[in-house]
Amino acid sequence: MRSLIEKKVLFFGGKGGVGKTTCASAMALAASRAGKRVLLVSTDPAHSTSDMFERPIGPEPVQLLPNLHGLEIDGAFETQRYVKNVKEQISTLFGHQIQKEAAKQIDLAASMPGAEEMALFDRIGALIRGEDDRFDLIVFDTAPTGHTLRLIRMPELMEAWIRALSKSRQAMIGIQRDEAADPVLISLTERLEHLREFRARLLSPRISAFVLVLVAERLPIEETARAIEQLADAGVTIGGMVINRVLPETSPDPFLCARHDQEQVYLDEIERRFKSHARIRVPQLPSDVHGVKTLEHLAELLTAETALR
Ligand SMILES: Nc1ncnc2c1ncn2[C@@H]1O[C@H](COP(=O)(O)OP(=O)(O)O)[C@@H](O)[C@H]1O
Ligand SMILES: [Mg+2]
Repeated sequence: MRSLIEKKVLFFGGKGGVGKTTCASAMALAASRAGKRVLLVSTDPAHSTSDMFERPIGPEPVQLLPNLHGLEIDGAFETQRYVKNVKEQISTLFGHQIQKEAAKQIDLAASMPGAEEMALFDRIGALIRGEDDRFDLIVFDTAPTGHTLRLIRMPELMEAWIRALSKSRQAMIGIQRDEAADPVLISLTERLEHLREFRARLLSPRISAFVLVLVAERLPIEETARAIEQLADAGVTIGGMVINRVLPETSPDPFLCARHDQEQVYLDEIERRFKSHARIRVPQLPSDVHGVKTLEHLAELLTAETALR
């Protein structure tokens, strides 16, 4: 998985509790140690990168270590930012009376279901487009799979939507005005450009990759299989898999022996079903993971040249 640090955007996804935050943090640390300027972004509303690095992280990048910043995306904060941007944009386009009316509508829209997701999408899109040029690599610690896959499909849906909006705007002004000078059309065209760039970077195997984290158990295996299908369908490159919390080889303890035998069955199944993807095993550590020291150990494991194909 060492080559992954040469990408620009990495996602770590998988079922709840399998080790997404742990692996994303360790990979971000590894890349920063290799000299990349890294931003670790948590999009899971149940943020835990701050627990991992044992310090507060907020909705704007904070420096955690040399070459490593952290950011925990906050839905409410992004909605406010989004609303402010839209209002500012409208104030440059329209007169006072329309602005007042529009502001009311915008505030209403911002409180509707889905508004927060829109705002999150907008921020994530800006990050993926590389808007913040302080960073070489952005590592996303994502929310459990379903939520993330929906987000990945959004540029496609939004493009269609904005294209339709542009068309109806064109029809509306077509006869009376010069299209090229219409501020609404200019703004829609700019959004469309942003979405195209977002999608192009997301789908470029050179730029972006999705790492699936799982443990050797039934449900995570099935969820991983579904995620692979959906990512392939969306055209997103799978960078590899981390099989986390693999038990030590032998133990005299009968309970651990039984666990180990059971695990072996699932490990075999993983090898069989996912053989076309790069895979790496990370052992169950004697204690849970937090703090830079344990992360360093994991960073080494993740970037060792032992990924299986
Ligand atoms: N290889 C490992 N060995 C021991 N504990 C681990 C390992 N990987 C993760 N953990 C622990 O498992 C728990 C869940 O991990 P986390 O990364 O928060 O999962 P997720 O982000 O997928 O919900 C955490 O308490 C973490 O410290
Ligand atoms: Mg997590």
